[in-house]
Amino acid sequence: MEKLLIKGGKPLKGQVAVSGAKNATVALIPAALLANDTCVLENLPQIRDVYVLKEIVEQMGAKVQMNETGTMEIVSSDLCNSHISNGKVKELRASYYLLGALLARFGEVSMAYPGGCDIGLRPIDQHIKGFRALGAEVEIEHGIIGIKAKKLAGSHIFLDVVSVGATINLMIAATMAEGTTVLENVAKEPHVVDVANFLNSMGAEVKGAGTDVIKIRGVERMHGSTYMVIPDQIEAGTYMIAAAAIPGGNVVIESVIPKHLDSIAAKLIEMGVEVQFNGDSVRVRNQRRPKSVDIKTLPYPGFPTDLQQPITSLLAQAEGTSMITESIWEGRFRHVDELKRMGADIKVEGRVAVIEGIEALSGARVSATDLRAGAALVIAGLMAKGETEVCNLFHIDRGYENLEGKLATLGAEIKRVKY
Ligand code: EPZ
Repeated sequence: MEKLLIKGGKPLKGQVAVSGAKNATVALIPAALLANDTCVLENLPQIRDVYVLKEIVEQMGAKVQMNETGTMEIVSSDLCNSHISNGKVKELRASYYLLGALLARFGEVSMAYPGGCDIGLRPIDQHIKGFRALGAEVEIEHGIIGIKAKKLAGSHIFLDVVSVGATINLMIAATMAEGTTVLENVAKEPHVVDVANFLNSMGAEVKGAGTDVIKIRGVERMHGSTYMVIPDQIEAGTYMIAAAAIPGGNVVIESVIPKHLDSIAAKLIEMGVEVQFNGDSVRVRNQRRPKSVDIKTLPYPGFPTDLQQPITSLLAQAEGTSMITESIWEGRFRHVDELKRMGADIKVEGRVAVIEGIEALSGARVSATDLRAGAALVIAGLMAKGETEVCNLFHIDRGYENLEGKLATLGAEIKRVKY
């Protein structure tokens, strides 16, 4: 087992580069299977979710190679199996994109129900509703989802909730359906647009990604492509928050797409933090204790739920009372109990957390309950007086490339140890 040891109180200074976007990558790898050909994906993050997906698609007959710079070659011409027996699909949510991709390519797929971070109910009814609208039969029996279609046919699908996963999955599934599919009330997250761009580079005809309506004109077949994933919006936001966490911080975060960071920059500025964009980098500087703010998580371009947990740590030491409303995931406050061990004064009632900022958190032994909770606890450790131990690193390793290494280059006293 491993844990992080953090000695708090040192302001972060220097430069850090953001890796490729996790939530785009985990959709690009399944999407690459649409072609009976070779795809090369560049700038992929070196994280556990990517390694797990690689193992799953290899077991299905794809040949996959990934080098240390994050370039992955996927040869899926020998892909023989649309019945996924690898139990690892339960380790990550995004394995549901294999359903859309294999259904489109083979007309049938079966797989265990996907897993992922424990942050709420996480239904996939909108994915299923969409597959059915495209003409597929869907059955769930003994924990296995089976989907079959003689021929997928374009359809008009209005999503009941704005879902990133359903938007991407249905976009992938509809690429080779007969006729045109119209998806309404869709998610507009940067990774939705990234997946659409990748699909188009493979020969698909997807229009409107990034707006509320996406139109997909089905094509006969898809071909291989070389594509570079966008930088990770949430990793960038995590470093912006970490930079603001200790007065005296001055960090340049490189390889970002500024537009993706508007909502987080706006909140940090409201807290009294300096945020300056310059080309594809952003400098975050903070001289004093941040001011309290209210935050409501919303689909893009609103404040991302994936940064709600990291920013809670910052607000725990802000001047005044803050209120966070989590409108996406009903169970995304499990980091709060851990922050309380560090002295945080936070009350949670349903989907609302009320945070009374205190002068200083104090180091404690805490446990990451999910990916972004892990990031929140690391940030809290950087801020706290004394030493913090963060356990359960498995979650952090799923989605952050070399978190402790990048923080150490910014001057943080943080190390990974075995125990
Ligand atoms: C994606 O999850 C991300 N994961 C999550 O990031 C992120 O929190 C979430 O989008 C919202 O931005 C990946 O991309 C792999 P949704 P996803 O479908 O697609 C409800 C992280 O930390 N819903 O947009 O599973 C659902 O309950 C992870 O990196 C339905 O009701 O999320 C939720 O309230 C954690 N029915 C809302 O929609 C459905 O069929 C948004 O979920 C699907 C979703």
